[in-house]
Amino acid sequence: MARILTGIQSSGVPHLGNILGAIIPAIEMSKSIENESLFFIADLHSLTTIKNAESIKHNTYATAAAWLAFGFDTEKNIFYRQSNISEVTELMWILNCFTAYPMLANAHSFKDKANNLADVNSGLFTYPVLMAADILLYDANIVPVGKDQLQHLEMTRDIAGSFNHLMGDAFVLPEAKVSENVMLVPGTDGKKMSKSYDNTIDIFAQEKYLKKQIMGIVTDSLDLEASKDPSNCNVFKIYKLLASTEQTKKMEHNYKNGGFGYGHAKIALFELILTKFSTERNKYSELMQDPTQIEKKLIEGSEKAKKIASSVLQRVKGKLGI
Ligand code: ADP
Ligand code: TRP
Repeated sequence: MARILTGIQSSGVPHLGNILGAIIPAIEMSKSIENESLFFIADLHSLTTIKNAESIKHNTYATAAAWLAFGFDTEKNIFYRQSNISEVTELMWILNCFTAYPMLANAHSFKDKANNLADVNSGLFTYPVLMAADILLYDANIVPVGKDQLQHLEMTRDIAGSFNHLMGDAFVLPEAKVSENVMLVPGTDGKKMSKSYDNTIDIFAQEKYLKKQIMGIVTDSLDLEASKDPSNCNVFKIYKLLASTEQTKKMEHNYKNGGFGYGHAKIALFELILTKFSTERNKYSELMQDPTQIEKKLIEGSEKAKKIASSVLQRVKGKLGI
């Protein structure tokens, strides 16, 4: 059985890009009986940038609610909050002592910010060591990540290798798994959908707000009567990712035929999102209205995670004579 582990940044409410590109594929992978998945909300990592208790709490719940709304099975798998497992910060200290300074100084996540050192906290500098502790604490075999995280995985293997070499084998070396064929969801301006570009479609938002985002999708200015090319249209590109083959064909036909405006296409997309995600939207708001349900799931998951964490930490301490 392979143990799959990944950390989810709790940086806000997941958008359509996060859902189609990360949440749904990860949940699918977790269903295999050959895999055991550990997914956690990386709230300690978010402290490097967010300094507001309400935001941290809200983002943790919103992220967890999205995974639960899409049906992540917390009985079969382990779903927890990073900060509930104090072993992770203890292991981080140990790993710090096996981490070469120049390697951290070479991390992209640090170098990108290094031209303004006054704004860099040491949490940002040692971010990869906490990530290594996240992974090594659970004997993870496979770590699904985006390309931007590959360097952190290399560092994790380096740190683990250095410990194993000096103190005797204690850590499993994890493999990164980058999904090459993951779909790239375009945002309302046609660029990659991302929180940082302010071009997201927030499928969990109130109808009025969601509609406003969809009506804001950038199109050309062909008039209602004109025949239009669907393959060049941002509305159609998103519609196609969600619709059935039949719905897509019909929409293509509408575009080409003329007498069908972008406003019509946007309303069709809005309605498709409401129907397609109606169960998930309801589940999400139900959970957010009563976060004690989310809290309960996270605590149950943390209890399972802690069992693995404490046994691995014991093993590591044994090698160190502490
Ligand atoms: P953002 O760019 O909004 O900050 P993150 O970098 O936090 O999103 O990404 C979280 C996860 O969602 C990653 O696995 C990433 O690959 C996936 N993801 C983000 N945006 C998209 C997108 N537009 N299309 C497909 N997947 C995406
Ligand atoms: N740094 C990762 C990101 O930005 C999140 C993360 C934290 C993570 N700890 C992890 C991912 C451990 C995989 C394994 O996306």
